[in-house]
Amino acid sequence: MEEELKAELDLIEKRGLTRKIKNLRFLDPVRAVAEDGKEYVVFSSNNYLGLTHAPEVIEAAKEANNYGTGSGGARLTTGGHFEAGILEKKLADFKHTEKALIFNTGYMTNLGVLYGLVKHKDVVFSDELNHASIIDGAKISKATVKVYKHADVADLERLLKEDATEGNRFIITDGVFSMDGDIAPLPDLVKLAEKYEATLIVDDAHAVGVIGDDGSGTSAHFGLQGKVDLQVGTMSKALAAEGGYVAGKKIFIDYLINKSRPFIFSTALAPAPAAAAAAALDLLIKNKEIYLQRLWSNTVRMRQLLENACIPLVEGETPIIPIMVGEASLASEIAGALAEKGVLISAIRPPTVAQGQSRLRLTVTAAHTEEQLAHAADLIIKVWQDAKRKRA
Ligand SMILES: Cc1ncc(COP(=O)(O)O)c(C=O)c1O
Repeated sequence: MEEELKAELDLIEKRGLTRKIKNLRFLDPVRAVAEDGKEYVVFSSNNYLGLTHAPEVIEAAKEANNYGTGSGGARLTTGGHFEAGILEKKLADFKHTEKALIFNTGYMTNLGVLYGLVKHKDVVFSDELNHASIIDGAKISKATVKVYKHADVADLERLLKEDATEGNRFIITDGVFSMDGDIAPLPDLVKLAEKYEATLIVDDAHAVGVIGDDGSGTSAHFGLQGKVDLQVGTMSKALAAEGGYVAGKKIFIDYLINKSRPFIFSTALAPAPAAAAAAALDLLIKNKEIYLQRLWSNTVRMRQLLENACIPLVEGETPIIPIMVGEASLASEIAGALAEKGVLISAIRPPTVAQGQSRLRLTVTAAHTEEQLAHAADLIIKVWQDAKRKRA
């Protein structure tokens, strides 16, 4: 067994795809220090609004710790606490839905929703670039999964048309795609869901705090509140904490409480992250214009700086700005050279993305300063040009 694992790890290493953990301590939302003392400006986190270090959020977590650092039980035994209930109420209101339910992570939420709701005889129609947690949730549901080409509504309709299932149909998509940063074609998905009587599920992990006039995600962005059956999300990105949630009609949520194994059989989230997320959500609601404006102007600025130097970006409008590299080893080399110079950007390689699609996944946040953006862009351009010259 161990030899088999070693052989596999050696192969991964040979392909330049080894994954390594780097422990960091964040001094503020965008500056972090590593264990060897080296300091970085981070351009790869999902802390879109920079609220992880907001005094109100930290204070809320501290206050909640007075009621225990852990929940001590599953939600349906003794692990329920006030902070979870308060957060669920706020999330349901924010998402304009009847009810919400929190899970321990966004990943578990997708597992829990799909495993909980989808039966063997059902069919799940899933965008080919959906997050791994959606893919895994669909897999464990044991339903038939039909994958449509990325954001291709004609391909989705073709699959829906030819499908003759007796069971239920589900269409599921990321709202903002995690590795490409583009936005799902929600108006068409809503129409198809209505036409083919499918339940529509949108994962707004990267959309909350990012798109929509009120920062509430994809439905708000398109003015389609109330048209999505279930909205999945996470507290680990713009909401500055951890945990996941699903929001929708009461009937769906009540069913999940009774049937979703990842919800039922796992110890509940501790009070502190729930309280922190609730405080972050309050801040987002109160200061939405300021945060969203800052995030969007930083995004536009970074795109401009890189585009002016002909750095190949995936087109888009969100703060996820993928720099297309192609070869995995080149992506690692560029990310390594940038890290040496104090800028952290993740190299995203297979299997997270397809072969030949490796990239640097650059993200900007509302907390980056103009100087940090300009400095990082200069370095990226220089390192990019050096790496290309070396390989020419
Ligand atoms: C689209 C999407 N859904 C779900 C998740 C999982 O969320 P979490 O990190 O809270 O587990 C992520 C990212 O991590 C994501 O990008």
